[in-house]
Amino acid sequence: MNIKNTAFKLASDGVDPSKVPSKELYTGARIPVIGLGTFGSDSVSHEDVATSVREALSLGYRHLDCASVYSNEDKIGQVLEEVFESGVLKREDLWITSKVWNDKHGDGDVLLSCAQTLKDLRLDYLDLYLVHWPFPNYHSPGCDIDSRSPDSKPYIHENYMKTWRQMESLVEMGIVRHIGTSNMTIPKLDMVLGDCNIKPACNEMELHPHFQQPDFFNYVVKNGILPIGFSPIGSPGRPERDRTSLDTVDIEDPVVVAAAERLGVHSAVVCLKWAVQRGQVPIPFSAKRKNILSNLQAVTSDLLTGEEMKAFEGIDRNCRLIKGHVFLWKDGQEWTDLWDLDGSITPA
Ligand SMILES: NC(=O)c1ccc[n+]([C@@H]2O[C@H](COP(=O)([O-])OP(=O)(O)OC[C@H]3O[C@@H](n4cnc5c(N)ncnc54)[C@H](OP(=O)(O)O)[C@@H]3O)[C@@H](O)[C@H]2O)c1
Repeated sequence: MNIKNTAFKLASDGVDPSKVPSKELYTGARIPVIGLGTFGSDSVSHEDVATSVREALSLGYRHLDCASVYSNEDKIGQVLEEVFESGVLKREDLWITSKVWNDKHGDGDVLLSCAQTLKDLRLDYLDLYLVHWPFPNYHSPGCDIDSRSPDSKPYIHENYMKTWRQMESLVEMGIVRHIGTSNMTIPKLDMVLGDCNIKPACNEMELHPHFQQPDFFNYVVKNGILPIGFSPIGSPGRPERDRTSLDTVDIEDPVVVAAAERLGVHSAVVCLKWAVQRGQVPIPFSAKRKNILSNLQAVTSDLLTGEEMKAFEGIDRNCRLIKGHVFLWKDGQEWTDLWDLDGSITPA
């Protein structure tokens, strides 16, 4: 895509943003039901991710999912500055999420990290700021899954709450409108809900047809928290390090393919329709204009039928793709130890 030489404007073939549904949060604020992810999976350059953001805004997206660890917020900020200077869009037209990375959980670090994100994105507030992972842990971006940080720690609730208090103070300062969690489990979130002053508005979690997390999804919804679903297409472009021979492929599932054939769309589009109809907010990434557009059109056109939605319930493979190996804190552990499968937090 080479569009940077032209002034920012709304695309004539885009989607009217007022036609894109939104979900109400417990605060009364509304969030568009689809956002553009901005992780380039190590294969799409930061410049090209920023170009995707520019295309997406031109095509009618009003929701972006950013994170400091994606290392492209400064490039996205250049696009946002240009878009606002064009006068075509105002800050309040957009929902912008970012996330504090795992090595910035310490005292005072959350504010510094948020300030850096705001500076990079050229914003004076975020709509949503998430704790990216519940583990304080530094590992270099792009490192192998066998990498271990010598100072890795398990989930320690007292420490998480110290981080959460800093998140709450960002809301009190007015530089963040909502705060939320990511990569949590029921027992961890349960403890946070018991101790927080400001409840998470959203919980970002891996959600796609082959990884539906029904118990956690229902828990989140029951507690008045909005589930935001990452890797909603099953992350077909994810880095090699995040692939195993046991992983299944959502967009090749016969149920997904059959719905795609009925509607004459790509299976990816069907995954997004399913996500929105189920009640989560998907945040797909694409580096291709055509796909960016069809993903947005997915939520404003034909619905899946009741029968198709029922069939989707039967294709869950419990196939977690982003397993989190690098967060393991001692030898001899399996990645499943990170996810509290027996319903209690894995002991240190
Ligand atoms: N909170 C967290 O820890 C966390 C973890 C992972 C991801 N995320 C967020 O979730 C976002 C999305 O996740 P993801 O990038 O892993 O996976 P994804 O959105 O499920 O998949 C993206 C891939 O799907 C392809 N694709 C997109 N639309 C398509 C279409 N209409 N037809 C065919 N192919 C299509 C893209 O290829 P093309 O570029 O060729 O279209 C790209 O390779 C990330 O960007 C990030 O913002 C958050």
